[in-house]
Amino acid sequence: MRLRAIFQPDQREFVTMALTEHLARLKEIEAQAQADFTNAPGTKELYDQKVRYFGKQGSFSELMRVMGKLGPEDKPTFGKEVNETKQRLEALYNQQESQLKSQEMATRLAQEALDLSLPGPERSQGSRHPISLVINEVISILSRIGYSVRLGPQIEGDWFNFEALNIPPDHPSRDLQDTFYVDDHHVLRTHTSPVQIHTLLNEIPPLRVLAPGSVFRCDSDVSHSPNFHQIEGMLVDRKVSMADLKGTLSYFVKELFGSSLKVRFRPSFFPFTEPSAEFDCSCPICQGKGCRMCKHSGWVEIGGCGLINPKVLMQAGLDPLEWQGLAFGFGIERMAIIKYGVQDIRLFNENDLRFLRQFE
Ligand code: PHE
Repeated sequence: MRLRAIFQPDQREFVTMALTEHLARLKEIEAQAQADFTNAPGTKELYDQKVRYFGKQGSFSELMRVMGKLGPEDKPTFGKEVNETKQRLEALYNQQESQLKSQEMATRLAQEALDLSLPGPERSQGSRHPISLVINEVISILSRIGYSVRLGPQIEGDWFNFEALNIPPDHPSRDLQDTFYVDDHHVLRTHTSPVQIHTLLNEIPPLRVLAPGSVFRCDSDVSHSPNFHQIEGMLVDRKVSMADLKGTLSYFVKELFGSSLKVRFRPSFFPFTEPSAEFDCSCPICQGKGCRMCKHSGWVEIGGCGLINPKVLMQAGLDPLEWQGLAFGFGIERMAIIKYGVQDIRLFNENDLRFLRQFE
């Protein structure tokens, strides 16, 4: 080392001068970096500055190259200065970064704050189908006079749907046009009356039962749907007469449509009732004056009824001299049409929400 200093005095001089210059340059860089770090408006800009000074192409890489060219006597001094400067700047950087980070977090929190007072999106609530509404109302009215619900299968044995109800094999309602046959001995029930048979075979009178449900017939137009609903009523007891039937149905109609309505029986025929009747009530829309709904007759048809045919009771092992019964069967769609003024029976099965929402 000494030899080198002695034999190369000029170079020593040159390098010493250069060192002061380099140190001055280092001070300049530090001052500039301090200003740049302090003035950076956000973390992104701050990071860009960091790259400018400490990156591969940055000022400090350049200073390292300078150091490589320094003489061994100057290297430690310069190296020490560079390192200390770097440490100071890094400390400043970290301090700035955490300050900017918390500022940015604060603005984000303010911007993205949830407005808890804002009402949420409305959830639509389902509602009961008008057919269910009518079924439930009929059940509620008749349960007040002792009736309770029984359910039967929708695929019914031929015997239950027809034979046991005294419908002989050549009866027109068995015609293929009216009945959906599942196989030779099973049909989609064409009415709820087979539930009468199931009940008579399984239970001991006195009985008061209601059987609501789907029924099926090959028929489709404005007033007929291949799948519609009925509710069956049956009462079996000692000394049952037409007076009981009329009293029951008058009570029912008044509860369902209002007290000012009149009821009437028209003689009719059903194989499973004797005597049989069609049951009408004065039109609830026009109060019997005549309107489109009642086809200007003042009356609307509710369903069929009668006293249970003794043959049916005997099929079920009951002695008709001891037990009598009354039965009635109403079309639910028919009642819903009257109650809600619906024009087309097909609306009940179309699932059009504009229609269904009116019953919410
Ligand atoms: N089951 C008959 C029908 O579907 C209605 C009815 C029921 C008639 C009970 C009399 C007694 O038309």
